[in-house]
Amino acid sequence: MIEIKNLSKNYQDKIAVDNLSFDIMPGVVTGFLGPNGAGKSTTMKMILNLARPSNGEVRIDGKHYIDLEQPVSKIGALIDADAVNPKLTAEQHLQLIAAASEISSTRVDEMLQKAGLEKVRNKQIREYSLGMKQRLGIAAALLGKPETVILDEPFNGLDVDGIKWLRNLTKDLARAGKAVLISSHLMSEIQTIAERVIVLAQGKLIADMTIEEMSKKSFSSYLRVRSENNIKLQGLLRNKGAFIQQMEQNCLIVRNLEMEEVGTAAKESSLAIFELTKVQPSLEQLFTELTDGKVDYVSQQNMNTKKG
Ligand SMILES: Nc1ncnc2c1ncn2[C@@H]1O[C@H](COP(=O)(O)OP(=O)(O)O)[C@@H](O)[C@H]1O
Ligand SMILES: [Mg+2]
Repeated sequence: MIEIKNLSKNYQDKIAVDNLSFDIMPGVVTGFLGPNGAGKSTTMKMILNLARPSNGEVRIDGKHYIDLEQPVSKIGALIDADAVNPKLTAEQHLQLIAAASEISSTRVDEMLQKAGLEKVRNKQIREYSLGMKQRLGIAAALLGKPETVILDEPFNGLDVDGIKWLRNLTKDLARAGKAVLISSHLMSEIQTIAERVIVLAQGKLIADMTIEEMSKKSFSSYLRVRSENNIKLQGLLRNKGAFIQQMEQNCLIVRNLEMEEVGTAAKESSLAIFELTKVQPSLEQLFTELTDGKVDYVSQQNMNTKKG
């Protein structure tokens, strides 16, 4: 288990991570969500001892990273898929890591296969797409059969097959009792694989809950209604106890009534209905609400310039 306690990181006068506390549990895929610049990568780097906390600490099974006897069997991570020597082949890259950590070359073969890189194992990484580099980075992260797997934005650049592969892989890892922490700036990528979600914005913890709790928290459904005379319909529905908001595109937003009640009320007054839709607000909408106005625009610009 990984315990994060009062973790903070300042860069000059910039607070990248602000007094963060949470645990990463075995057997669970934990989604680490937040807009660009929220502090996800910085937190992951501090867990991996790649960045020094300004305050607070990270403990891995009670120990600090530097005191781990075999770090590769405790934590495996993908932080930056591009941070590889482009002149190496996938096989050479994995063999180097394996050799440094006393991992067998059969394990390298196994991971090349598992990551779907078998056919390109002897190609130089410079020829790889970002998706292939992500697969390679994930293979490298899993090489030491670590108890905890940390993946920073692994969905970036993956194609449809890659996304499916990664979803199954993370679920299998959790089923095998591993702790998986996987970051993303998109709710849609996380909601299908994570059991629990931690949401960051501007370095601060905004939410820490299960997907189930989050689903319950997201607003209840409403109806979108468009008719030949919305003003008249609005009056009729209000009399039946509806809460109504007028919306652009000539639609009414109706709460507190069922579809059948709206349809019947319209029929009774001979009003033609042009649209009647039930809308279930998504987790994406809840995520946007939670983090709205908390996007770090400065760093977003930085990220854009970094990506060219
Ligand atoms: N090495 C660094 N030096 C200065 N500022 C940094 C550095 N790394 C990250 N930051 C800043 O810290 C904040 C959090 O960044 P980051 O952890 O990369 O966020 P995320 O991964 O959620 O997009 C951003 O404002 C970013 O610009
Ligand atoms: Mg990041």
